[in-house]
Amino acid sequence: MIFATEMAEIGKDIAKAKAYLEQGLLVGIPTETVYGLAANALNIEAVVRIFQTKNRPEFDPLIVHVANFDQVKMLVSAFPKPLLMLAERFWPGPLTLLLPKQPLVPDLVTSGLETVGVRMPNHPLTQQLLAQLDFPLAAPSANPFGYISPTKASHVNDQLGSGIPYILDGGSCDVGLESTIVGMEGDQVVVYRIGGLDLHEIQEVVGKLKVMDHSSSNPKAPGMLKSHYAPRKPIIIGNIQEMISSGLYHNFGILSFSQSFPKQKPESVQILSPNANLSEAAKNLFTAMRTLDSVDVSVILAELLPDEGLGKAINDRLKRAAA
Ligand code: TXA
Ligand code: MG
Repeated sequence: MIFATEMAEIGKDIAKAKAYLEQGLLVGIPTETVYGLAANALNIEAVVRIFQTKNRPEFDPLIVHVANFDQVKMLVSAFPKPLLMLAERFWPGPLTLLLPKQPLVPDLVTSGLETVGVRMPNHPLTQQLLAQLDFPLAAPSANPFGYISPTKASHVNDQLGSGIPYILDGGSCDVGLESTIVGMEGDQVVVYRIGGLDLHEIQEVVGKLKVMDHSSSNPKAPGMLKSHYAPRKPIIIGNIQEMISSGLYHNFGILSFSQSFPKQKPESVQILSPNANLSEAAKNLFTAMRTLDSVDVSVILAELLPDEGLGKAINDRLKRAAA
C-alpha cells in the first residue's frame, strides 16, 4: 500500500505562494469558480509541471490568469470588440475569453493553438497574489485530469497534495462551477463551455450566441469532451423516486436538487439546495459529488435541474459525469 507521505502546506500566506511560484513550482490557488493549479505561465518548465502533476494530456490548453488589463495586453495581439465588451462588463469574474495570442505565450500553454484563454479571477487572495507577481499564472482546475474540479483547499490536498508545496486557502468557492469560455469564429461569438456566467447575461451584451455542443467529436476545447468532470462511481440520471421504486438499484447514493429522501441513509443523500436555489446548487455540486464518491455507495442516482440560468451549466456537468 502506498501512502501519500508529503502533503501540501495549506495557508493564507501570499508571500509564500509568491516565492514558490517565482521558483517555478506549483501552488493551489482559490478562485470564485474552482481552485486552480497555478504556475508561471511564461516559464515552460513550470508549465510542464502542471501537465505532469495533473496527468493531463498536452493537447489540452491552459487558461492564463491575470490581475489587470495591462497584463492582458502583453498576452494578446488583438481584442475583438464583442469580447472586449464582455471583459469590461464581467471581469473580474467567471468568464474566460479566447483571444489571439502574442508570441510571448508558450505554445505549450495553448497546445499550439493561435488563441490563448485569458481570465481575470474574482477572488481577493488570488487577485493580491497576481498583482504582486511579474508574470501571469497558467492554471487549470486543480484536479487529476478527468475528475471533478475542487471547490475547497482540502479537495486539492486530497488529490494533488503530494505533488505541490503550497495551497493558498481562500475558503469555499463562491460560484462552484468552472468559468464560461467564450471566443469568436469570424464575426460570431461562440460559447465553448457553459459555466459560472449565465448565457443570458452574455447575450444581453453581445446579442446572438452560438453554443457549441460538447458531444462534437473534435472539440476545440477538450473541456467539452463528453466524459469529463466525472466522479469515480457511475452516475445515473433520471427521476430519482422512480429509480428507487424500480428496485433495480442497490446500495445507491442520491444527488437531488431540493427534495429530501428521509427513508434513505442520511450520509448517502446529498441535497444541492433545499430551497431550490440554482446558485446554491452550483456552489454545492462538486462537494456533493465528492462526498458521494467517498461514502459506501456503489452507484449515484441523480436528477437534472431546471434547464435555465446556472441550471444549464449544472446539467451539463451532470450529463458529462454520467456519460
Ligand atoms: O474556472 C475556470 O476556468 C478554472 C479556474 C481555475 O480558472 N479553470 C479551468 O481550467 O477550468 P481547465 O484547464 O480545467 O479548463 C479549461 C478549459 C479546457 O477545457 C481547455 O481545453 C480550454 O479551457 N481552453 C483553454 N485554452 C483554450 C484555447 N486557447 N482554445 C480552446 N480551448 C481552450
Ligand atoms: Mg478542468
